Amino acid sequence: MCGIVGYIGMREASGVLLQGLQRLEYRGYDSAGIAVLAGDGVRCDVLGGMCEEKKKSEGGRLRVVKQKGNVASLAEAIVRSNGHISGATLGIGHTRWATHGDPSDRNAHPHMNASGDIALIHNGIIENHAALRVELGNHGYSFTSDTDSEVLVHLIDHLWKQIPFLDFESAVRQALSIIDGAYGICVISSREPETMIVARKGSPLVIGIGDGEYFVASDAAPLVEYTRQVVYLEDDELAVVKRDGYTVKSIDNIEQEKALTELDFELGEIEKGGYEHFMLKEIFEQPEVMQDVMRGRVRLEEGRIQLGGIADHLDELRAAKRIVICACGTSWHAGLIGEYLIEEFANIPVEVDYASEFRYRNPIIGPGDVMLVISQSGETADTLAALQLAREKGATVIGICNVVGSTIARQTDFGIYTHAGPEIGVASTKAFSAQVIVLTMLALALSKDRTMSDDEVIEALQSLNDLPDQVSRILEHSEQILEIAEHYKDARNFLYLGRGYNFPVALEGALKLKEISYIHAEGYPAAEMKHGPIALIDEEMPVVVIATKTKDETYKKVLSNIQEVRSRKGRVIAIATEGDEEIEALAEHVIYVPEGAQFIMPLLTVIPLQLLSYYIAKMRKCDVDRPRNLAKSVTVE
Ligand code: F6R
Repeated sequence: MCGIVGYIGMREASGVLLQGLQRLEYRGYDSAGIAVLAGDGVRCDVLGGMCEEKKKSEGGRLRVVKQKGNVASLAEAIVRSNGHISGATLGIGHTRWATHGDPSDRNAHPHMNASGDIALIHNGIIENHAALRVELGNHGYSFTSDTDSEVLVHLIDHLWKQIPFLDFESAVRQALSIIDGAYGICVISSREPETMIVARKGSPLVIGIGDGEYFVASDAAPLVEYTRQVVYLEDDELAVVKRDGYTVKSIDNIEQEKALTELDFELGEIEKGGYEHFMLKEIFEQPEVMQDVMRGRVRLEEGRIQLGGIADHLDELRAAKRIVICACGTSWHAGLIGEYLIEEFANIPVEVDYASEFRYRNPIIGPGDVMLVISQSGETADTLAALQLAREKGATVIGICNVVGSTIARQTDFGIYTHAGPEIGVASTKAFSAQVIVLTMLALALSKDRTMSDDEVIEALQSLNDLPDQVSRILEHSEQILEIAEHYKDARNFLYLGRGYNFPVALEGALKLKEISYIHAEGYPAAEMKHGPIALIDEEMPVVVIATKTKDETYKKVLSNIQEVRSRKGRVIAIATEGDEEIEALAEHVIYVPEGAQFIMPLLTVIPLQLLSYYIAKMRKCDVDRPRNLAKSVTVE
């Protein structure tokens, strides 16, 4: 959600921080800021949009630039500050996505104490902030922002002053023991100028280990250009980072042994590579991503799937009473496809639940059940909470995550990485495809000796093997989708219909359109249309119907559904199987995808829908990579 970066070393801190914030912008932002500890400083100034408002204080050396808006305007403000923050080699930076208090200069992070010698950035939510505000107010503290985060910096200040012999680290530790809620924080102080303190509870933080320098970030994207060696903090851990080393302790002050993790992606993977938007790049790289996801796992010659992460647990999984899939958003749509796949191939009952619903009822789950969580980021708060609840109740918890070392990945019993590479565009595209492929491989791995013959398994593996080329063929016809987008870019509503494996794709197509183009869109199982939504159809309503050929009679039924739309003057855009001429007479536009097995269809039919929403959003001049009100990773409930 919000982004955190921190740096201590020998480089110019402001440059490292700005670069890091740019790499984190995809997480969503409405304001940004940095604080540095200037080597030659004589006082604390606050610049940027709020420089007029904040009183200057003498004696500190922390310098802050922060304001509403994006990182590019923060960079301009830094330039306008005329070297005000140059020469510093320690600092912290933040991109904010508003939760408490509107997006504004004053609510931007970092927040400072009144004397300007402590600066703090915070991700998460402090639930008891209102009570703490009152208490601190009674001690003479006043607040310059509406944020819950500012409370924490004053609390640290208060404890540090109040309790004799307390050092910086202990003051932060004490403050954290008083607050309720979630946090990832990074704090610096001119009173202890060689120290950066970071701590986490429910909001991710990773420390990058350089040579005589250390980096801190809320995800690994800003670190990869400096180092590949990282340490992930766990909940209730606090790290003291200095120029000559770092120590990780539990919140109870017990030193922790931490393993180093090697980052597994390249800088090029988080850059745009010539595309106008990350989303477009990520749509177009799907053929390669699909190959990466399947590499070494789809073993066509051996007629089997090899999934290292679950290889030792296959019998346990096959014996599951049922599998409960929990996820949010696009990952939940992948989960719905997983239900079709696992029930068809492995004959194990599957339920799919929104993580946010699962966690707030009394779900019936326990030993013998398997919970499968799916998350691109591996940090989604609701998915994480669902996982923890299932685990408390005795279920085995497995995960499908994209971000290696993410919190969800670490808290599952075992799991499968999607290996889709970093997904930067807020709208998930390649991660969805990767999730569906992993689910397909999982279902096939579970099917052994249950429902499928060896020949059927080989046929399925062949379908997976053919997939990247088929997707490339669809992408070659992106021009046609661009033209269709031109026809519908001004529509105010859209309906998406599909059946079977294509039903979750209808939901996903509608979500993609609404989140990046702000056009209202709904996805429905095609047969449900006559139970209500058909009332919406008139000549203004584009209806995207996924009507690929099937072996059973559902294809014919979908054709009838198209007729129903047509007879009410709805405008049909059909996604159909190559060679299907019959459908041309029924639809205003037809987008063809290659013929394939039914279970492969979602991976083909979703591609034109991703492109359609991308082109429409672009034509409507929407900020495709950073849609309004959205963030890449939703680490708050
Ligand atoms: C939509 C989208 C979101 C995410 C959802 C879950 O394009 O990206 O709906 O799918 O927020 O995120 P993860 O998969 O990171 O748990």
